Amino acid sequence: MQSKGQVGTWPPEFVWGVSTSSFQIEGATKEGGRGPSIWDTFGAAGRCQNKDTGDVACDHYNRFEEDVALMRDLGIDAYRFSIAWPRVLPLGRGKPNKTGLDFYDRLIDALLEANIEPWICLYHWDLPQALDDHGGWLVRDSAGWFADYATLVARRYGDRVKRWATFNEFSVFTIFGYGFGESAPGHSAGTVPLQKAVHYVNLAHGAGVDVLRAHVPHASIGAIHNYQPIIPSSAAHENAAALFATYWNQAHPDPQILGAYPTLIADAMERYMEPGDLARICRPIDWFGLNHYSPIYAQTEDNDLGFGFGPHPPEIERTPINWPIHPEAFRDTLIGVSDRYSLPIYVTENGYGSQDQQAENGTVEDPKRVEFLTNYINAVKEAMARGADVRGYFVWSLLDNFEWGSGYGVRFGLVYVDYPTQRRIPKASYTWFADLIKSTRLSRERRQPAPTQAGRVNRFGPI
Ligand code: FCB
Repeated sequence: MQSKGQVGTWPPEFVWGVSTSSFQIEGATKEGGRGPSIWDTFGAAGRCQNKDTGDVACDHYNRFEEDVALMRDLGIDAYRFSIAWPRVLPLGRGKPNKTGLDFYDRLIDALLEANIEPWICLYHWDLPQALDDHGGWLVRDSAGWFADYATLVARRYGDRVKRWATFNEFSVFTIFGYGFGESAPGHSAGTVPLQKAVHYVNLAHGAGVDVLRAHVPHASIGAIHNYQPIIPSSAAHENAAALFATYWNQAHPDPQILGAYPTLIADAMERYMEPGDLARICRPIDWFGLNHYSPIYAQTEDNDLGFGFGPHPPEIERTPINWPIHPEAFRDTLIGVSDRYSLPIYVTENGYGSQDQQAENGTVEDPKRVEFLTNYINAVKEAMARGADVRGYFVWSLLDNFEWGSGYGVRFGLVYVDYPTQRRIPKASYTWFADLIKSTRLSRERRQPAPTQAGRVNRFGPI
């Protein structure tokens, strides 16, 4: 991959940010009255690489002030983080945990003080274990549990936080968690559990949107999807790739935004539906959160789903964790999503995973990350020039962190974390991103208020 250099001019209201998630950075899993989540259980069962767990992670729960200072110095406009449901409701429902709620109060206040807009994602995969014990996303009741949790959080923080996302990457946690059974909760695998999880999570999304609208004045609400081309490894795998793409790219945003399940699975999904469900799912939202890393190569698989990951073409360049590098696919994805869903897009994750190391002089040089981000940000610019309505870009991630099944073996941060000491060391890419943001500011005016959908209608009536 060759760097094309930075693209210079951006709209003044374009949002630059970084993203994290609660389970990946907070640690302190047994502190302050937090209850266990499905990822605690999964890690404790030794199911992550090197038997890593999220018990300590970046200890952000105890070090958030230092992390906010890093963000302030980076110069970002916005910080996207998630609330740990089991920290505020240790059993997933019932009695709230004051200490947990207070933690996010302090985090939000510190961000506002640093002039950084908080963007809250309600669900980034850490389902309370107690709810999984009651069926979790495999039962319809989960939509009500989620709505109650969303109500608690929206009422608590809605006075200060206007930007809300219901879920992070529906398709990734439903496909890996319930289709392949390789991620938490990891006790069910196959087409039926996948389809149930898809539908009940979609219902939870719709309920969450209604709650946020009701409780947060002037809310700007979105949902975050991992969206990327799914390419057959060879012509023989076209059907498998089409089905994979249906679950990965469309099974969530299509019913949520267009009001219908995609054709390939529409009949099958009827099995789980009650009258009025599509109207419950398709609630008006203000923006599309798009996470993107690389295209997927797919093949037919001898499993219940009938699809899986196939080999990449040997000539394609990859990151150190074997993810294909393809900025043009990102550009085309942005254009395609903009056309299909007609919503403003925020790129809520994009980043480069590797095994960065500290040099003897203590610095962390990551030129390949800088090259990757430069080319992907250029792709955003190109997509905008071709008509895609992109309003912001968030790097994954601020800090190296617990990368789910890969444990601590992969680093995505702009800031290196020395886990034994918890020292934070900004990498070269941190300075580069700070400079990029600064350079775009030269031409900036005051930022505009968040867009809302006032006065719009969808197929189910006024928004
Ligand atoms: C995304 C997840 C995020 C992180 C990055 C690398 O799929 O949303 O939590 O793991 O991948």
